[in-house]
Amino acid sequence: MNLKDKYIDFFEQHGHKVIPSAPIIPENDPTCLFNTAGMQPLVPYLKGQPHPLGNRLCDVQKCFRTNDLDEVGDTTHHTFFEMLGNWSLGDYFKNESIHWSYEFLTKVLNIPVEKLAVTVFAGNDVVEADHESAEIWKSLGIKEERIAYLGVEDNWWGPAGETGPCGPDTEIFYWRSTDPVPVQFDTNDDRWVEIWNNVFMQCEKHQDGSFTPLKQKNVDTGMGVERTTAILEGVNDNYESSIWKPIISKIEEVSHLKYEGENKRPMRIIADHIRAIVMISGDEAQIYPSNKDQGYILRRLIRRMIRYARNLNIDMQSDFDQVLANMIIDDYKKYYPELEKNKDHILDILASEKKKFSRTLEKGLREFEKIVEHLDTNVLPDEFAFKLYDTYGFPIELTMELAHEKGLSVNKEGFDELFKKHQEKSRAGSTAKFKGGLASDGEIETKYHTATHLLNAALKVVLGSDVHQRGSNITSERMRFDFSCDHKLTPEEKEQVENLVNEWIQEGLEVRVETMSKEEALKIGAEAMFIEKYPDMVTVYFIGDVSKELCGGPHVKNTKELGHFKIKKEEASSAGVRRIKAVLE
Ligand code: ALA
Repeated sequence: MNLKDKYIDFFEQHGHKVIPSAPIIPENDPTCLFNTAGMQPLVPYLKGQPHPLGNRLCDVQKCFRTNDLDEVGDTTHHTFFEMLGNWSLGDYFKNESIHWSYEFLTKVLNIPVEKLAVTVFAGNDVVEADHESAEIWKSLGIKEERIAYLGVEDNWWGPAGETGPCGPDTEIFYWRSTDPVPVQFDTNDDRWVEIWNNVFMQCEKHQDGSFTPLKQKNVDTGMGVERTTAILEGVNDNYESSIWKPIISKIEEVSHLKYEGENKRPMRIIADHIRAIVMISGDEAQIYPSNKDQGYILRRLIRRMIRYARNLNIDMQSDFDQVLANMIIDDYKKYYPELEKNKDHILDILASEKKKFSRTLEKGLREFEKIVEHLDTNVLPDEFAFKLYDTYGFPIELTMELAHEKGLSVNKEGFDELFKKHQEKSRAGSTAKFKGGLASDGEIETKYHTATHLLNAALKVVLGSDVHQRGSNITSERMRFDFSCDHKLTPEEKEQVENLVNEWIQEGLEVRVETMSKEEALKIGAEAMFIEKYPDMVTVYFIGDVSKELCGGPHVKNTKELGHFKIKKEEASSAGVRRIKAVLE
């Protein structure tokens, strides 16, 4: 059994229900581009909403962090990674959590206790020092010298964005070295690596920076699959573990090079990126490469991978990308069946993006070399960075990387300025925005959540019942809604949709929530973006009798709270998908 299976097995035996990984593109948290931690899809439940499967949960969650993108290429960083998690939603707390972590590590994974050390929270104004956890660790045989008390920088987790659930944590470290294990745990010695984080989630942070106690005390844990697997297999380079070996070998084969010396970095980048590309494009949200949001990240990943493949002299005419993508799909479909289902989509967009970019990459690189040769400053001219983007399709981050390799810098602000001007000129829409973190669930965002359901329902009335939601994004200023539709809305259609939503608002419809089985939800025709991704029991929000939709909330109680709904813009989002931006006034 691999680590994932052992973990799930263990926590199932301890009364946890297995939940499927949520999509990597968050569903109920539309202001956030990607899930960055296992707890993120569980926020409503951590805040007190009952989870349909009970109060002990565990899963393997698809996660993606863009902040590590530039570090990918070393031995430990990945963009996409899998996180194992077990949760108590107001059920068990420190005692069981620590006991089970200890038991799993020492009895199931057979890690000798001598190789473990832990940190606990030293305390601050909000929460006191966590002597309780330290005592539990001691009772299990962790020596006092192996327990370090650290402050908020190290032993406080979250919130994942600006607001939300958070709390003190206890982190578990493993001695990753063949050197003798020192008696004293030195937290600055990087041979001690963190393998598991148990967060005792008991606070909620608010927009104004204040903390309030959560309704319930939760446990949120996270263990990175890649790192722990490498540790268990005794390798110092994650890419030498069984997770990555087959893909690295394939890259060796297609490049006719060995995984050694200076080949290592490009090979790791290709391996990391192809997996992330498959996971993002294989997500149920059906992302396409674009110049915005997740689509832009996908584009960057594909183009960066292609550039490094070229560095390794991999034949661009060959189908190396398809071969690698197929390997990843086969490897992961057991955990994420959507990869098999969306296989054509994944392979198609990869092929077309590769075709598009490999046509211009060579020319762009040649021009880059030429300019650099004649440059008498160490800053790349803004106009040239923009030309690389505009004419040759080089994402600015790629240009910055190329420049950096030549000891040059790029004035990002200057580029942004040109980019903005260009956009204004071509009226190409809003600038790309990379917002991380959780949705704040302020009053206005809650209203937009409910308005989203009404818009979804109104579109079905006006355009037909085969119109479905393809994405959504909410800020405190506006809502954005993507839906399947093969034509630009006529002014009449737009007006009808707007009027219908406003009628429903004025009618003062009641918003109710009910928990039911997935089958029942299907039977009553509840709307859901990815029905197969939901657990067996689901929460359905009803708005009068105009809308029923699977959702984690939160929502207003009555539609009359929403004010006046107005469509600001209707535009194409991608092939067969339209986008509406609307506001509540
Ligand atoms: N949410 C915690 C983490 O990401 C467990 O480390």
